[in-house]
Amino acid sequence: MKRNGKKFPKGFYFGASTSAHQVEGGNKNDFTEQEKEVCDIRAKNYREHYTFQAKILGREPDWKSIEKEASDPKNYISGLACDHYNLYEKDFDLACKLGHNSHRFSIEWARIEPKEGKFDKKELLHYKKVVKALRKRGIEPFVTLWHFSLPIWFQKSGGWLRKDADELFTRYVEKVVSYLKDDVKYWMTLNEPMVWAADSYLLGIFPPEKKSFPTFLKILYRLGRAHISAYKVIKEIDENAQVGLVIDNPYFEPYKNRLYNRVIKFIADHIYSKSLLFYVRNSLDFIGLNHYFHNVVNFGFNKKCCGKINDMGIEMHPKSMYHAIMELCSFHKPVYVTESGTADREDKYRAWYIREILKNVLNAIHDGADVKGYFHWSLLDNYEWDKGYWPKMGLIKVNFDTLAREVRDSAYTYTEIIKNNGF
Ligand code: BGC
Repeated sequence: MKRNGKKFPKGFYFGASTSAHQVEGGNKNDFTEQEKEVCDIRAKNYREHYTFQAKILGREPDWKSIEKEASDPKNYISGLACDHYNLYEKDFDLACKLGHNSHRFSIEWARIEPKEGKFDKKELLHYKKVVKALRKRGIEPFVTLWHFSLPIWFQKSGGWLRKDADELFTRYVEKVVSYLKDDVKYWMTLNEPMVWAADSYLLGIFPPEKKSFPTFLKILYRLGRAHISAYKVIKEIDENAQVGLVIDNPYFEPYKNRLYNRVIKFIADHIYSKSLLFYVRNSLDFIGLNHYFHNVVNFGFNKKCCGKINDMGIEMHPKSMYHAIMELCSFHKPVYVTESGTADREDKYRAWYIREILKNVLNAIHDGADVKGYFHWSLLDNYEWDKGYWPKMGLIKVNFDTLAREVRDSAYTYTEIIKNNGF
């Protein structure tokens, strides 16, 4: 690899990411059920709700600028979201104008299979149109098959704990992939199994709101199995398909490089970041890396960070991206950065962050990492799960009353980098 440090490899994918429940609107799934139950309490206790996370992250957000939205129950109802379900052509026009040559989105299982065993052809057709709309604009689709939200029937009957969960998931995958295979090459089976399993079965935040360590472990195993089975069926349908799993690795930095912190880092890396990948390594064409966190480990605790802080109280530490990528090199698989972004309602830091993150991606490439694409989170402001609408992560600002879109200045910084294929 030529170490000029400035340009991305030829054919590098530049795009942005979204997920169905966060942008489409009009969904009916386990999250929409939960939202009705918890919106009032979340609005009332928005600070307490976030305190635990803030402790892990190290900082509280600046509540002054957020509290109006955060204390409104409507903030916690996904509802119409960005109405991307209907406005996707317009959104892809914007992505195209911004120079994106690829786009990552997810398919909503609850739309495709609203009742167990009953598949909705209209919805399959909808996603076909979505994929065609991308292709028409010269944008390569990267499709996630499961991004957190589940059909109500599946969740109510035990969800991933059902003995036949992997068969049910694979049957859904088979339907979708057979239908879209002519227009989609890149598939991602599951998004961030660790985050979802922890939020749903350890912390009790996502549905089904359980708090049990043994069940959390069981769920992870089930998700790994589901990935392997889905991988197999996708390859049977299309041997040229590229199939990946999306993980959410932070960079665990050992404080002052002390020996005991290095030991803790080693354990955290191997349990949190690498165990699932190791389990599925023989059923994996690429790794999707979502990267947001820099965790400085000091005796097992996350040390308070001191860098730039975003609206969610998360430290923005671009160098972490370099490490998170390099730490995946031992798997010898191509890596796509499937998410990286920051909550920044004033658009004060995003341009800087994008630039610095991409420089670190480049450094990793020049140091031998096989990175093939970068997808910014997110194309649009969207519904940020238990936090609702107050975090603003879009390259494109969305007015949730009028649904008007407005491209943020930082989006053009990204476009400049894309145009130059680097710096
Ligand atoms: C998830 C996204 C989420 C993003 C920003 C990731 O964990 O995949 O759905 O919106 O982080 O918090």
